[in-house]
Amino acid sequence: MRCTVFGTGYLGATHAACMAELGHDVVGVDIDPGKVAKLADGVVPFYEPGLEDVLQRNLAAGRLRFTTDYADAATHADVHFLGVGTPQKKGEYGADLKYVHAVVDTLAPMLERPAMIVGKSTVPVGTAAALGVRARAQAKVDVEVAWNPEFLREGFAVQDTLRPDRMVLGLDHDRERSAWVEEHIREIYADLIAAEIPFLLTDLATAELVKVSANAFLATKISFINAVSEVCEATGADVTMLADALGYDARIGRRFLNAGLGFGGGCLPKDIRAFMARSGELGADHAVAFLREVDNINMRRRTKVVDMAARACGGSLLGANVAVLGAAFKPESDDVRDSPALNVAGMIQLHGAVVTVYDPKAVENSRRVFPTLNYATSVSEACDRADVVLVLTEWNEFTALTPADLDPVVRSRSIIDGRNCLDSAAWRAAGWVYAGLGTP
Ligand code: UDX
Repeated sequence: MRCTVFGTGYLGATHAACMAELGHDVVGVDIDPGKVAKLADGVVPFYEPGLEDVLQRNLAAGRLRFTTDYADAATHADVHFLGVGTPQKKGEYGADLKYVHAVVDTLAPMLERPAMIVGKSTVPVGTAAALGVRARAQAKVDVEVAWNPEFLREGFAVQDTLRPDRMVLGLDHDRERSAWVEEHIREIYADLIAAEIPFLLTDLATAELVKVSANAFLATKISFINAVSEVCEATGADVTMLADALGYDARIGRRFLNAGLGFGGGCLPKDIRAFMARSGELGADHAVAFLREVDNINMRRRTKVVDMAARACGGSLLGANVAVLGAAFKPESDDVRDSPALNVAGMIQLHGAVVTVYDPKAVENSRRVFPTLNYATSVSEACDRADVVLVLTEWNEFTALTPADLDPVVRSRSIIDGRNCLDSAAWRAAGWVYAGLGTP
């Protein structure tokens, strides 16, 4: 089948490449000519394991191309996926829909035959219905809007797109309108449906809310264990042992119970805030008031790590030499959007420390958002004469570190494990002062 994908960020580029991998004839569209040129050359403009192979294979097969030309895309297909960003608005909690609106406002008037816009972006509930009205008001032909939220995790984007846990398709209440959309989307995902991946048909609002509530649940699970972590710190209990024991209860499950510096990235933090903002607009703010506490617990972990670093440096960070290992919001990603690691590095610098950051993939992006920090090209360069070493993203390169690797370079044998990813006993046995979160 033919389809287009508007937006070529983490979501859009992955979706375009994976739809081509399923055998479809795909055009990826973006307003940024730099991104389009890179993708057309087979280069993924961000770090995502496995994506470049899929991209190159499908470019070579002639099933995938990229353009900045909306008119070209409008005529290419009847199915137009929408995968642009919905960032947090400046100065408020709500999601900024300007990119979503820009696509619809540009595309709709260009359509020459009936078409469908299938949203993949995370949007506040009610957006899809409003976009339907907006698109039809501007189009010369009939336009359907459906919502097919994406649940991919960065670092596993290809796997999550080609083998998702489930697919959700939200359709207009008008069955006649939506039957045509359902038929096309079933055809696009035929291989996935044949592989017995659950395919759930819902109304538009439910589909939008599934995505938002999934992310709110994940954020809540992480903040739950981090709140318990605070109690562990007050009593001398061990949150990792506790999480292991909780996880054996199949109703709870061990995943997303890793206590530490908490969640960041382009999705969970902004999605819970947008959920609160939208619920407020709908008069249901009391229903999700607990998410404010989820956010507060999460942010408190960051200041806790700054306090731990100060304590490790004798009570003050002023003039201290601090090594920060990790800048990405999680391993296997170069994404530093709302990165807890980079946020902590910045706060420590504000307390007067000299901070040197090393990350295997995210230094370039970090430099762009935080140019005042020092950046190293290796662990040993970052840790050179450090008064304290902070491990803030659990890259394999860091979890594999041994005291013998750092002994020759640091000034003080003090390490803070912000992700509870190191073997505390081994570091202590080697004479290091080890501090973790929620561990004695
Ligand atoms: C998330 C959702 O998982 C995905 O389904 C959705 O489509 C987009 O948002 P992503 O942002 O890629 O994906 O990252 P995820 O793996 O969920 O991790 C989010 C943050 O939570 C990271 O900062 C990670 O370090 C943190 N985290 C995760 C924890 O602190 N503890 C955990 O146990 C798990």
